[in-house]
Amino acid sequence: MKSTISISSPSSLETDALVAVVLDHSEPSASNNGQKPQLKLAASDPALQSASADLLASGELTGKLLETNLLHKPTGLKAKRLLLVSGGNAKKFSAYELRRVAGTAVRTLKSRGIRSFAFVTPSGIDAEESVRAIVEGANVGNFDPDYYRSDRKDQKIDELTVVASGDKSKLESAAREAQIIGESQNFTRDLVNEPSNRMTPTILGDRAKKMCAEVGLKCEVYGPEKIKELKMGAFWSVAQGSDEPPALIIMKYEPAGAPEKPVLGLVGKGITFDTGGISIKPADGMEKMKYDMAGGATMIGVMRAVALLKPKIKVIGIVCATENMPSGHAQKPGDVQIAMSGKSIEVINTDAEGRLVLADGLHYAKQLGCSHLVDAATLTGAVVVALGYNNAGIFTNDDEMYERIHRANEKAGEKMWRLPVDDEYKEQIRSSIADIMNTGGRWGGAITAAMFLKEFAEDTPWIHLDIAGTAWMEEQKPWIAKGPSGIAVRSLVEFVKSFSP
Ligand code: BES
Ligand code: MN
Ligand code: ZN
Repeated sequence: MKSTISISSPSSLETDALVAVVLDHSEPSASNNGQKPQLKLAASDPALQSASADLLASGELTGKLLETNLLHKPTGLKAKRLLLVSGGNAKKFSAYELRRVAGTAVRTLKSRGIRSFAFVTPSGIDAEESVRAIVEGANVGNFDPDYYRSDRKDQKIDELTVVASGDKSKLESAAREAQIIGESQNFTRDLVNEPSNRMTPTILGDRAKKMCAEVGLKCEVYGPEKIKELKMGAFWSVAQGSDEPPALIIMKYEPAGAPEKPVLGLVGKGITFDTGGISIKPADGMEKMKYDMAGGATMIGVMRAVALLKPKIKVIGIVCATENMPSGHAQKPGDVQIAMSGKSIEVINTDAEGRLVLADGLHYAKQLGCSHLVDAATLTGAVVVALGYNNAGIFTNDDEMYERIHRANEKAGEKMWRLPVDDEYKEQIRSSIADIMNTGGRWGGAITAAMFLKEFAEDTPWIHLDIAGTAWMEEQKPWIAKGPSGIAVRSLVEFVKSFSP
């Protein structure tokens, strides 16, 4: 999708569809009391206002968030159609809702065969922020995962014009940045969407290499020999059970003029399929474990965006990619493994494999000179129990890092929630025969998984994002398809940018 800025008046635009936002100006509690919504167009253009006046006054609309109405041949406008999308209550309307409104507009229009449209930035939100939200939200809405359907229509919006007022070059650079971020999020979603027979560790490595060559990043992909040579005993313990060779993917962004420190390390879990290993998972729903490389795909998408946005900070992306399989070579419950850091691990459950591969990924990142670490992983079912599908889990040993990721979440319009990693929880992963065990018992499973990772981050400022509940949309929403969400890409891009002087 191409995004351009127009600063001309919306009514003079010739386009297949013009999209404008409707807001409800009644008190936020009023609709609960049976009161009528007070609908107003969030655009000052008089022709646009009069074209929508009758519909808004009709009493037919609820004004609820994401309600859509399509008018043909709107009087007084050059546009062929006018699509009104509700942003909900005006008092609660922010860039977060605007992203969803834009995604909804894209999904409404593209299924009708429309390929280009114009979106009028709503009054009430800063113009640059609006442009970002619209372009990001539209890109997210434009993605559909039905690649392997013979009847795939591949309906896509090709061209978006954002109608705004203000400094055109500033608005254009906001659109350009948002376009890069939205495309990178979709790049991640493409990787996650592939089934495991089409996204092996080797293929994931190839895709990373190709992307890196395109955007000018250094990239190295190592196989089993190097992983063993580096003494990555935890990573290898998972990889040893599979006939597919593992891949250790290292992407480096080292821009001229960046300070020596900090160096950010982005470490992703890249389990291209998680059967559970010898502690095998039940068959029901196992097919979804193709998305167990979403953390790794997230980091590859973030590196893409960073390479194109060029913030002045060094970033290293690391993905530990392997399958988790049962076989005659597979590790068994009770096995003791020595991680790259030298710590010994008693493997109680071979299905707790993500923390094993990340343990070595985090240690290796430190060895490569990373001063700050972030990992992303579909790590536990327990985080879904704790937070459901609407928030990813944040775990960190550093309050400043928390503030940074929290601000990044707000900028990016993504929801994450902090959970504790207090030392008390460490008791749950104490082993009687090794330094630690890879499971922590029934309670607080997302936390004990994070405690395990914390043992390998040690004193380095570190954030762990558990995206098991958010990386996959269980059902379609008006603004986004069912399937891989790419959630965490935008936040991590903002997080990286926040270090740029
Ligand atoms: N990949 C899973 C976690 C997961 C669950 C991701 C649901 C997405 C949706 C992970 O490797 C796993 O199997 N975790 C176990 C850990 C347990 C054995 C301690 C879990 O959560 O059950
Ligand atoms: Mn598992
Ligand atoms: Zn897993």
